[in-house]
Amino acid sequence: MEAGKPSTKSAFASAPASGFGVYIHWPFCESKCPYCDFNSHVRHKPVGQSTYRAAFAREIAWTAARTQDETVTSIFFGGGTPSLMEPATVASIIDDIARHWSLDPHVEITLEANPSSVEAERFAGYASAGVNRVSLGIQALNDPDLKALGRRHSVAEARAAIDIAARQFDRVSTDLIYARSGQSVDAWRSELSEALKLPVGHMSLYQLTIEAGTPFHALHQAGKLSVPGEGLAADLFTLTQDMCADAGLPNYEISNHARPGEECRHNLVYWRYAPYAGIGPGAHGRLDLNGVRTATEAERHPEAWLDRVSKQGNGLIDSTPLDQGQMADELLLMGARLVEGVDLDWLKSLTGHTLNTSAITPLVTDGHIVLDGTTLTITSQGQKILNELVVRLSSALSPYSASDSNGIMTRPPG
Ligand SMILES: C[S@@+](CC[C@H](N)C(=O)[O-])C[C@H]1O[C@@H](n2cnc3c(N)ncnc32)[C@H](O)[C@@H]1O
Ligand code: SF4
Repeated sequence: MEAGKPSTKSAFASAPASGFGVYIHWPFCESKCPYCDFNSHVRHKPVGQSTYRAAFAREIAWTAARTQDETVTSIFFGGGTPSLMEPATVASIIDDIARHWSLDPHVEITLEANPSSVEAERFAGYASAGVNRVSLGIQALNDPDLKALGRRHSVAEARAAIDIAARQFDRVSTDLIYARSGQSVDAWRSELSEALKLPVGHMSLYQLTIEAGTPFHALHQAGKLSVPGEGLAADLFTLTQDMCADAGLPNYEISNHARPGEECRHNLVYWRYAPYAGIGPGAHGRLDLNGVRTATEAERHPEAWLDRVSKQGNGLIDSTPLDQGQMADELLLMGARLVEGVDLDWLKSLTGHTLNTSAITPLVTDGHIVLDGTTLTITSQGQKILNELVVRLSSALSPYSASDSNGIMTRPPG
């Protein structure tokens, strides 16, 4: 690691609770998985890394000029498949971020990686570049299901990649997809118990979602791919929460589990509704510009994004100030996912909205939410109907008079 690079030692406990994140999107994959609707593209010629390096540098400089006062607490390389980036590309992006913003001394720098042997060979280079956390897309721990998910790696390769990652990085996370076609409670119990023996401090466990426009969606529509119904999905969810809690990785967000102190600081920025910059094709951001929360969205198509950056210094197709009602909805939508809940003083202070007590009392009585002082949390029963609850909470929002204010917060409490 060069002098001036951020420390690779992370310290969640001593870090600010909210912060400012920078998301970097790498939009390429070796092949397209049949369930995935992320902004990822397959190119049959090598991607010009130096061209993208220069474009990322321009967009970082342009974005930082709008948000100079921020201190970056987390950087997240997401995709697509960021482990297809050359370590020099990752290093140059981290250097650009450090040049244009100040970095928190404990900045968390995560890179999403696919666990193939070729990609694991780049891990040492990423660590030297300043990456201190990897998130490995394991997806399944049995070869037939990996094949059915269209994955290019085997279980043996995934296990080897985890071992290499555990030697290179302070913090390792794995992603698994469950509620797969034909998966029984017993099958998931034995697979999850294997996953919980892996040397990782964080696990993202997602139920398979059938996304419109994907090959899985077409198969599902044609009756050729079945997924667990509501009852089985709820049983799989409960089993997941119980087994992870027993193993010392309780969930801190609906699908995310961590040993205490290993929570993903970058994703907490989103869920606590703190601001972040989105850099790269299709990236979204939420910036505080002159005191106004502003939603940004970049062009998704990689070559069209490059074109925009070369013409206008950024790839944005939209940059829209949010009104207070939109901010209140977003803050609730994000915060409801967190076990720590939503701070209603923060909601009031940032968005000028409160929750109408008479409208939410039935949700408390039904055991779906708990109100403790100014904190609203969703119970484990409520998490099973989260989408419906968020709609009901949103309709219970109302503006309050400015004279009720007891002080304006500009960041989530912590
Ligand atoms: C955008 S992917 C990037 C990571 C990396 N490219 C990989 O595939 O390992 C992030 C994660 O989203 C999850 N994911 C993507 N599509 C999903 C779907 N349809 N249902 C559930 N989880 C999904 C996977 O667990 C994946 O690891
Ligand atoms: S799941 Fe990952 S590797 Fe597969 S297409 Fe999506 S982003 Fe690419």
